[in-house]
Amino acid sequence: MDTVRFGLIGAGGISNQHCRAISKIEGAEIVAAADINEANLKRAQERWGIPDLYPDYNRMLERDDIDAVLVCTPTAIHGAPTVAALRAGKHVLCEKPMEASLERAIEMTQAAHESGKNLMVALKLRFTPHVKKAKEIVDAGTLGEIYYAEAIADRRRGNPGGSFIRKATAGLGACADIGVYALDTALYLMGHPKPIAVSGITSNYLSRHCTWNPALRETEVEDFACGWVLFENGARMVFKTCWCMHMDSLGGTIFLGTKAGLRIGIGEVRGPQEGVYVYGDKDGEIHDQAYRDFEPVDVFLAEDAAFVHAVRNGLPSPIPPDEVLLTQIIIQGVVDSQARGGREVEVHVPTFT
Ligand SMILES: NC(=O)c1ccc[n+]([C@@H]2O[C@H](COP(=O)([O-])OP(=O)(O)OC[C@H]3O[C@@H](n4cnc5c(N)ncnc54)[C@H](O)[C@@H]3O)[C@@H](O)[C@H]2O)c1
Repeated sequence: MDTVRFGLIGAGGISNQHCRAISKIEGAEIVAAADINEANLKRAQERWGIPDLYPDYNRMLERDDIDAVLVCTPTAIHGAPTVAALRAGKHVLCEKPMEASLERAIEMTQAAHESGKNLMVALKLRFTPHVKKAKEIVDAGTLGEIYYAEAIADRRRGNPGGSFIRKATAGLGACADIGVYALDTALYLMGHPKPIAVSGITSNYLSRHCTWNPALRETEVEDFACGWVLFENGARMVFKTCWCMHMDSLGGTIFLGTKAGLRIGIGEVRGPQEGVYVYGDKDGEIHDQAYRDFEPVDVFLAEDAAFVHAVRNGLPSPIPPDEVLLTQIIIQGVVDSQARGGREVEVHVPTFT
């Protein structure tokens, strides 16, 4: 395939980053866009020169000359367009998180397997030098066996409001917006162990009683979540995320291994400091290493280019849906546990044929 021809579904805020990135990638172009909001469609057309516009994405998916679809709809509307696009024989690059509903996330993964097309969830931190460096360190065996992790993504006053706080559009709050980055980073570095049980709690007290922005009192989703995850391989993980809190930090995302520990600070996966830090031992003495001087990377360009490269060359998805599904299973476990007063729930990872 010489050029990957994209159709865009959802021409809102984040689609601009992908339109910009794709405009810079040789062998990729956006040939059509679909949105229920005509003004957003027109704006995208004027800004990015997209030739054809559709009020209904199903009409756009009938076109044989579209190879791939970029799904940038609100989180609770990722599943339907993704499944429709895969069934129409298109590859799909879908914004994060995978979905608001675990059931729909499973359908998305199933549709990817059945269609044989690539489904990639745009978890941009995977393309940062921080996560790449951390993965390189873990894969080199420096940490030994990771037996414990804390996956943390927090903001002090960062409830985004708008469609992000509505059940109908977002479905989930901080867990799906920023927590998913911490979970995905942690699972990626841990080698995607299977979660088997989760206990947790969620809250939106601070948003519902917000003193700094009364509009946030309408928040319908969680602005805080905390979970305890058991994995089949014996590893354990604490998951913490929040959009607002009376605290400066919930701590960094850390990994304890039998040979060394690692802390990563990047973007929403905040720690005390940006960078990758390894805490180890050399001949009985403390031996630590810090990696901080990373060149800035255009993560949207990097992730979209990786997707295009895979599609053009018939390679598997750079971020397979089966991996991302684990983040969804853990988040659903926390939500289900909250509904049971914080008691532990068993979780199951489906197998796909
Ligand atoms: N990767 C990142 O850094 C990042 C940043 C922000 C948002 N996001 C993700 O991107 C997604 C979209 O966020 P956003 O801020 O662009 O939202 P947005 O509300 O600005 O845009 C969503 C667009 O989807 C359209 N839409 C809604 N239902 C539709 C349907 N059935 N068919 C076609 N179009 C439909 C809306 O009209 C709107 O134009 C969310 O899932 C969010 O988590 C990712």
